[in-house]
Amino acid sequence: MVFLALYLPSGQMPDIYPPVISLPVLVIGLALFLVILTVQLLPKGPVIKGVPGSFSDLFLCGSATKFAFLSGRSAHHFHALHESYGKIARFAPGQATTNTIKALRNIYGSGTGKGAAFLKTGFYKSISRRNVFTASDPHYHTSVRKLFGPSMTPGNMSAHAGVVRECILRLHDVIKEKLNKNDTLVLNDLLYCHSVDTVSEVLLGKPLGCLKRGKPYFWTEQLPRIFFWATVRDQFQGSGVPSVMKWLLRRFLRKGIRARAENARMRLINEQLKAPHHRRDIMVEVMERAGESDLPQEEIAENFSAIMLAGFHTTQNALCAVIYFVLTHPEAHAKLVRELQSVFSSAEDISGDVAQQLPYLNAVITEALRLYPPVPLGGPRVSPGAYVDGTYIPAGTEICTSLYAMHHNPEYFSAPYEFIPERWTEPGSTDNKEAVQPFLVGSRACIAKYFAKQMMQLTLAAFFLDFDAEYVGRVKDWQKDSRCYAFWELPELKVKLNSRHHA
Ligand code: HEM
Repeated sequence: MVFLALYLPSGQMPDIYPPVISLPVLVIGLALFLVILTVQLLPKGPVIKGVPGSFSDLFLCGSATKFAFLSGRSAHHFHALHESYGKIARFAPGQATTNTIKALRNIYGSGTGKGAAFLKTGFYKSISRRNVFTASDPHYHTSVRKLFGPSMTPGNMSAHAGVVRECILRLHDVIKEKLNKNDTLVLNDLLYCHSVDTVSEVLLGKPLGCLKRGKPYFWTEQLPRIFFWATVRDQFQGSGVPSVMKWLLRRFLRKGIRARAENARMRLINEQLKAPHHRRDIMVEVMERAGESDLPQEEIAENFSAIMLAGFHTTQNALCAVIYFVLTHPEAHAKLVRELQSVFSSAEDISGDVAQQLPYLNAVITEALRLYPPVPLGGPRVSPGAYVDGTYIPAGTEICTSLYAMHHNPEYFSAPYEFIPERWTEPGSTDNKEAVQPFLVGSRACIAKYFAKQMMQLTLAAFFLDFDAEYVGRVKDWQKDSRCYAFWELPELKVKLNSRHHA
């Protein structure tokens, strides 16, 4: 386990500071792991009565689910649990998952009216220090949302559409340059660099230039690793393993990569806080409001860092998924291109206002997010002692709504595994649209939902307008072949591209 855990989610060793594990450390690690497996893995909360679950999860401390988490199969595993046990399934003695709209509203919409909130679990604390994403304290969280939220409204985001378009044109220049040498490209890294450049430029007013550089900075790529470690640690909570892992991480990795990444991120943000800004980016807006906030500047800087980081992989995941699903469905592809060409002639004249009104463009985006939500599990919460879709969940129990399972729930969708954008455009569709919530709901829903939507609308409209593309990747079923640690590890998005020539 320790050996496995020292590898990255992608199965590769980190490029910087590869951990040197001597044989004794490995043997001790393996022995420790076996002891822990056989002796104890404490349940996270009280045993939930009346909620079904598998034998191994109930009597072997959730071992099947733990294995699913460690092997990156948690989203699929939770979905399978719901298929076997219904709308609320226990996956360990004190932990349960749900897959219904009512449960989603009960859990994530709580705390706004009467009744106590389902707060974020300790899992978030192991990700990083306190910020808008990790905080469980509602008072602190509200003050951060109050400060940043007004800059993320749909009206406010449209003021940044021009910057997003400039980033897209830069992406296309890079793609076209590459096409001069080879007509087959892997888009994952390019779209990742595009997401990093766009998020940081809109948020901080600073182009990071990842695309120009040809690769992301190491500090932008830390999130999957952080989530991977947090996932591994979370599986052994209460067993003593997290302390050993913490020590190993400090000893071999954290001191090097994680601390360097945090320093690099904070340096960038602190520099931008002092630098002159040439347009009204989000940092300018937030700092204008900062005087009315009770948050000190270091907290504001930490939150800029958290918000920025939360946008990189999620957006790349979503862009790649939409391109994959569209290209593997030729009719949808043709229909989308027809719609786009009826209003725009090339990437240069796309507009946010028009793109957000295009029914088929928005249908392919929503349908891809249904099938492949970038945050497939929704996020674990602690019950304050409340009913969830008719079942009493005792205080202290961990519970979540699996977005992947809800988005594939056959009670809500006909042909739930099929990519059918028409379900969002046909008035006769009987699918339950409310059951697609890739940004979650309630006070902890994605703060940048409209920013993300705008980036997707513009980037995808521009891509399908400027390039004739064909998917030539190896993986034939993205959903089945993806692993997830909080968000997905994407398969290779290999495409054959042809630039459409515009006079
Ligand atoms: C398609 C793209 C995106 C999707 C599907 C998405 C989805 C989500 C989801 C499901 C959550 C809740 C996670 C949880 O509670 O564990 C979340 C939270 C969050 N997202 Fe996004 N996100 C996207 C893009 C972005 C972008 C572009 C940014 C920033 C620029 C961002 C910033 C955040 C932040 C800061 C939170 C924490 C909010 C809070 O707890 O108040 N996201 N997102």
